[in-house]
Amino acid sequence: MSSQRISIDSENGRYEVVYGSRVLSGAGPAVRSLGANTGVFLLSSPRVARHWRRKLERALRSAGLRHTVIFDDREEAKSISTAELVCRELVRAGADRRAILVAAGGGVVGDVAGFVAATYLRGVGIVHLPTTLVAQVDSAIGGKTGVNLPEGKNLVGAFYSPRLVLADPVSLSTLPSREFRSGVYEVVKYGVIGDERLFAFLEKSMEMLVHRDAKALDYVIPRCIQSKAKVVSHDEREAGLREILNFGHTFAHAFETATGYAKYLHGEAVGWGMIAASRLAARMGLLKTESASRIENLVRQVGPLPDLPAAKPARLMEIMHADKKTRGGQLRFVLSRKIGSAETFGPVPAKLVIEVLGRLPAQPRP
Ligand code: GLY
Repeated sequence: MSSQRISIDSENGRYEVVYGSRVLSGAGPAVRSLGANTGVFLLSSPRVARHWRRKLERALRSAGLRHTVIFDDREEAKSISTAELVCRELVRAGADRRAILVAAGGGVVGDVAGFVAATYLRGVGIVHLPTTLVAQVDSAIGGKTGVNLPEGKNLVGAFYSPRLVLADPVSLSTLPSREFRSGVYEVVKYGVIGDERLFAFLEKSMEMLVHRDAKALDYVIPRCIQSKAKVVSHDEREAGLREILNFGHTFAHAFETATGYAKYLHGEAVGWGMIAASRLAARMGLLKTESASRIENLVRQVGPLPDLPAAKPARLMEIMHADKKTRGGQLRFVLSRKIGSAETFGPVPAKLVIEVLGRLPAQPRP
């Protein structure tokens, strides 16, 4: 399959997401084509570097690679102090205002590197090379960057668009199965919020997708990128429409925060969050029970989920009140009325949310 180019409009101009097998080997010319720079700085993590560092450094040499910074990309380490360490290493390596950062990795690498790019010397260019499914279909696109606080996820950050995104399905071959499945939950999300055909494809072909069948990847990934491109090109700063990308995320962030970011991969928490959001929508009479069951069933087909957090609903509610969608202390949720569409609803009565949380089984029901 030849590569596909999908354009994104941002307030800093248009950039492209290029999807295709082996686009990473062409990263050097692609970065060079962005214009002159005073040095390329590769940012990655130990586990990504283990498989890809040599190839990427070779590919980026022709673009002026000067230094590689490796930092911890566990969700627990997605913090201001990790961003500080990266900035300090960049200073020591001589990165100036015309440097280009190249972030190779999953969601945490992209979010931390993006935050560094937005703030280091008040902003330097960044190119994303997402190497996980979550990052290819979601986090590397749309300019959200940030780090967590103990109080909540992504509470410190900036909107900062990359200059280019290169998504190569070959890089998914080295992902542990749990990491890959974590990205599939985000794919399910795109089906629920805006793409009924994708949802139906997943119901039929989940087995192929979780086995990383090349044809399934080539169908699913560009389709998700296109959906995201459409949303963020209309509403980069999340004034409205973009909120739908957070379907399942209000619950998910609470599950992640309540467990110190250590129990779930992000997508797994989103898997649980989508079940909770579907049950909430059904409880509110917005979504047919049968559709809520289809969503729950599809989430279950992705694979096993870690158990729900032991935290009490009251504690989860407290965390949800810090969610970025909360307005004047009133809870708002992205909910679906019908598979293939979603919108933000609020205020949602706390009583209903507590009821849904209290009734979630430890494992999704067959
Ligand atoms: N992952 C949600 C967004 O990019 O808006």
